Amino acid sequence: MKIERFDDGIAVCGDATTDEAMKLVIEETNGVPLIIADPPYGNIVDEKWDRIAEDDSVFAQWMVSWTQKWTAALVPGGAFYIWGGIGIVGFRPFFKFLTAIEKPGEFELSTLITWSKKRAYGIKWGYLFTREELAYFVKGNIKKPHTFNIPLLEAKRGYAGYDPRYPAKSEHYRRTNVWTDVTEIMQGKLHPTQKKQRVIEIPIEVHTKPGDTVVDPFAGAGTTAFACRKLGRRFIVFERDEVYFDDLVNRLRQSP
Ligand SMILES: C[S@@+](CC[C@H](N)C(=O)[O-])C[C@H]1O[C@@H](n2cnc3c(N)ncnc32)[C@H](O)[C@@H]1O
Repeated sequence: MKIERFDDGIAVCGDATTDEAMKLVIEETNGVPLIIADPPYGNIVDEKWDRIAEDDSVFAQWMVSWTQKWTAALVPGGAFYIWGGIGIVGFRPFFKFLTAIEKPGEFELSTLITWSKKRAYGIKWGYLFTREELAYFVKGNIKKPHTFNIPLLEAKRGYAGYDPRYPAKSEHYRRTNVWTDVTEIMQGKLHPTQKKQRVIEIPIEVHTKPGDTVVDPFAGAGTTAFACRKLGRRFIVFERDEVYFDDLVNRLRQSP
């Protein structure tokens, strides 16, 4: 593993699914409140890193294996966010993963978030496709998260609440499990599956405080590292591909 250190974090070039990778995080932090993973989706993107297995059960088992491993690096009540898609007929690894990984009391699915995007892909035989899924798990009981700062939208409610006995706690709407307010990157991506930084900032704001460390095992363009830097959090990110890794390190060195 090649390690690059920054004042506010660490970038590692190597396989994040190994014990060595997970142990590095424990040595550096003693446990983190948040892991955000945007792993390969499974033969969906035309990239060699997306070819893990032809069989969705094998793919789902691969997901289960590194998720269980990485859970050890979370503090009790820590949040684990994992991106995934709904797959295609005969290949639904994310659904299989979601049901296989949950263990009541130990690792519970708190929320399945849908990121509703702006661009929709056309098909004649069905609904247009315009979504990505984001599973939010808690290490332990979903009602006892380590940190949950209630997320609000910029949009204001415009009314005080229906029932005078229960006045609205904020003039802003609360964020729901369907995110419609973030537009994806339309042009000029640095990585084929680069996420809009805002969708990564949201869980960081919800589950951490300034100075906390966030881990991303599948860094890609380094979106999590840049979101952490903007929000005053520390980061440990892993990327196996040397070209993507060198690029994200160069950009981290150059950015304020
Ligand atoms: C879906 S992309 C992540 C995109 C990222 N969220 C962004 O905003 O740019 C997954 C990335 O994980 C990397 N990757 C795949 N398997 C890996 C592994 N075992 N260890 C570390 N990185 C891996 C791939 O090279 C790819 O860049």
